[in-house]
Amino acid sequence: MLLAVERLHAHYGKSHILHGVNLAVEEGSIVSLLGRNGSGRSTTLKTMMGIVRATEGSVVLEGCELTGLRPFEVARAGLGYVPEERLVFPNLTVEENLQMGLQPPRDGNAPWTTGDMYRYFPRLEERRHNKAGTLSGGEQQMLTICRSLLGNPRVLLIDEPTEGLAPKIVEVVMEVILDIRKRGLAVVLVEQKLTIALKVAEKVFVMGHGEIVFEGTPDELRGRPDIRRDWLEVS
Ligand SMILES: Nc1ncnc2c1ncn2[C@@H]1O[C@H](COP(=O)(O)OP(=O)(O)O)[C@@H](O)[C@H]1O
Ligand SMILES: [Mg+2]
Repeated sequence: MLLAVERLHAHYGKSHILHGVNLAVEEGSIVSLLGRNGSGRSTTLKTMMGIVRATEGSVVLEGCELTGLRPFEVARAGLGYVPEERLVFPNLTVEENLQMGLQPPRDGNAPWTTGDMYRYFPRLEERRHNKAGTLSGGEQQMLTICRSLLGNPRVLLIDEPTEGLAPKIVEVVMEVILDIRKRGLAVVLVEQKLTIALKVAEKVFVMGHGEIVFEGTPDELRGRPDIRRDWLEVS
């Protein structure tokens, strides 16, 4: 197992939000983390990154314990993170934002280059000398994904990457995610659009009230209308 999350608990103040989350991610696979708004998906990613402190449990990447590390140390250990809110440096140019993300490659993997990023998103190349703060929301989202990839992570955690993007850009983002897997990286994808999440993932985890309430393949989830009704569809 490349990444194992075991019995993870987290609190915001006195509110107990994560109640023993378990996740397992194999090398070169895409895992979708599904659930209704408020079910704890973003908190799970933030706790894995050390942005929210784990109050119990562990996160182990390639045998290395990540709980207790600070976010930059977690990133250095190999977890990349694309948060829901697009995080760009508004006063730096597109190119400077990309350079901020550069980290040396990990053994065995070919490094990602800014050229790769511009091939995926020619729009970013056109705007490479523009300040990131002047980009549209969608462009800032692409830039955030690219900056994380340039850190050459082993596993990329992506929180609702297609939220608010035009359908054409959604397709490109999904292509990038499939390409990431081809390169042997793993992806944990929080995605609201169920069809997309089921199409790309090998494995699906459904969260409800801060716990994993279902774990299986996309086909297994397709065969469980009860799970979809109780934990996914908005009634
Ligand atoms: N910064 C915060 N402070 C207090 N409560 C929060 C905070 N962020 C999220 N929560 C609460 O934690 C729960 C899980 O939220 P979140 O992880 O964002 O869910 P999801 O990403 O699945 O929509 C929700 O009840 C939410 O209101
Ligand atoms: Mg969220």
